[in-house]
Amino acid sequence: MAFVSQQEESLSTLLKESRAFQASEEFKKNAWANDPAIYEKAKRDPEAYWADWASQLDWFEKWNKVLEWNPPYAKWFVGGKINASVNCLDRHVRTEKKNKAAILWEGEDGRERVLTYGTLYRDVNKFANALKTLGVKRGDRVAIYMPMIPELVTAVLASARIGAIHSVVFGGFSAEALRDRINDAEAKVLVTADGGYRRGQIVPLKHDADYALMGTPSIEKVVVVSRLGIPQRMKTGRDLWYHELMNEAAPFCEPEKMDSEDILFTLYTSGTTGKPKGIIHTTGGYLTGTYATAKWVFDLKESDIFWCTADIGWITGHSYIIYGPMANGATQVMYEGAPDWPSKDRFWKIIEKYGVTVFYTAPTAIRAFMKWGTDFVEKADLSSLRLLGSVGEPINPEAWMWYYKHIGRERCPIVDTWWQTETGMILITPLAGITTLKPGSATKPFPGIEADLVDEKGNSVAVGGGYVVLRKPWPAMLRGIYKDPERYQQTYWNRWKDIYFTGDGGRRDEDGYFWFLGRVDDVINVSGHRIGTAEVESALVDHPLVAEAAVVSRPHEIKGVAIVAFVTLKEGARKAEQDTKKLAGELKEHVQSKIGAIARPEEILFSRDLPKTRSGKIMRRLLRDIATGKVLGDTTTLADPAVVEQLKHQYEEEE
Ligand code: PRX
Repeated sequence: MAFVSQQEESLSTLLKESRAFQASEEFKKNAWANDPAIYEKAKRDPEAYWADWASQLDWFEKWNKVLEWNPPYAKWFVGGKINASVNCLDRHVRTEKKNKAAILWEGEDGRERVLTYGTLYRDVNKFANALKTLGVKRGDRVAIYMPMIPELVTAVLASARIGAIHSVVFGGFSAEALRDRINDAEAKVLVTADGGYRRGQIVPLKHDADYALMGTPSIEKVVVVSRLGIPQRMKTGRDLWYHELMNEAAPFCEPEKMDSEDILFTLYTSGTTGKPKGIIHTTGGYLTGTYATAKWVFDLKESDIFWCTADIGWITGHSYIIYGPMANGATQVMYEGAPDWPSKDRFWKIIEKYGVTVFYTAPTAIRAFMKWGTDFVEKADLSSLRLLGSVGEPINPEAWMWYYKHIGRERCPIVDTWWQTETGMILITPLAGITTLKPGSATKPFPGIEADLVDEKGNSVAVGGGYVVLRKPWPAMLRGIYKDPERYQQTYWNRWKDIYFTGDGGRRDEDGYFWFLGRVDDVINVSGHRIGTAEVESALVDHPLVAEAAVVSRPHEIKGVAIVAFVTLKEGARKAEQDTKKLAGELKEHVQSKIGAIARPEEILFSRDLPKTRSGKIMRRLLRDIATGKVLGDTTTLADPAVVEQLKHQYEEEE
């Protein structure tokens, strides 16, 4: 709780020296959501409220029941028939939006492409037909491993069109991580690309995918987009070029009439074990939730140019690049590469060039911008911006203020949006036309959302610290974990009866505002990316020299938290391997190759032993204390207290 009081202290100073953080009168007047009564209205009859949102979508057949709740399983818009691609494309193409830009794409190499709703519709139809010719049928899984290029959107929406379940794997994941996800999903087709650009380097996706494909028996065909124009080794009978398939594909594909509860996609996310979970999202409720939140939280209007900087490989890209904004018919910027390539003002140049009005990014990026200094920002014309958003981890008040002053130029409200892969949609967030903002707080639940803060026993904590929970189902909630109902029950629903546990700790203040403190389980959030400590540990012990590993996090100036690994080596290895610096580098590399760069430990510390209780359980709390330089807590329950002293000593020396 120390973090919160620190937050609150700096907040009160900020509030003293500054006016209340509220949108301008003009913003409020024009905002979609500007009447505080909507909270009360949604609370009074949540089903009618959500049905009202759902009815703004196009359905082949209307539902006959809004919600069926058999905890922990919810069904939304029961009996309704709908197709997600129709809602993102067909219904716009039938109107004057047909020639409106859907995607303003910019490659890291400076290449530009504009896709209107009309052209995207055509591509999606064709690729849907191409997938069909490859034998993909309703319910089949399509794995997608791509850079941030428009074909990624096309592949996702084409899968949705034919009722195939898409499973996007972030392009930064390693071949092994890709292989495991393909195998869990038993995907039939993989869509990939020759590569993409990241920080001036080529990310060789097809090359990595080939390695993964050596162990993926379910994959029958691989479609390769030529993004870089690099010749590829194409396996006869398996690998096909995207552009060749598109040349031959018929221009219209009848959309499948999906049941509201049919699976739209799975997306793998980290949990407390070594095995990532395939989070299941279904169609009608997910689309309703993302459509509603995109409209109200980002206040999307016809004239807006929205830019969400997330990768589509994460839930943020699924919900707020593809489904939410596109169901709203928004115009978006999509950017392939890094914020500091070729120079640290790339984002600001993009905002200036395309006239971005609503900008959604992560605190880790904001902290990096702060570090790079204001020179890069000040030169850019950011006057088109009118609303800023933050997502992925708690935003510290200092970063909030910097974002507000230097990017928003004290004109733009900031929406700090809290949600998860599992929640599918934003759940706790300001509505800029209504909410008074407090830097560092995600403020209040979105209308219709019953979020609460509870103590160990599950009792509501009106003011104070506790666990963040959800008391009622919401339309875009996960429907389970792919092929693992037991884990679904265990992870989210076992702590308190019929209450969803988020895994987050937080605090509620006197005004009912939520302040998030981070995860309370063995999940860490590095630069807004979720990683299970167990995943990193199993990658480490997979190395032939490692006997045991324990992974903890410690605060990091830019990443939010960084990974610190404590490692004991196998007997023989300890003698053989004298150069620990070299070995630490090798182990970091090993983790990167097993999972991806996001999981690479910041620091590795070797120890003869790890602190354990007498029953043999590793005491992570102590390791966290060591890694954060705190005074050590009680060590009396340790099997060998000397281990901790030695580690602490060693750690301080290395620092
Ligand atoms: O700990 C919370 C943090 O990110 C976790 C969810 O991670 P993921 O499923 O990868 O989704 C990230 C993007 C939605 C949460 O359990 N988190 C996300 N947004 C915020 C946040 N923590 C504090 N404030 C936020 N705005």
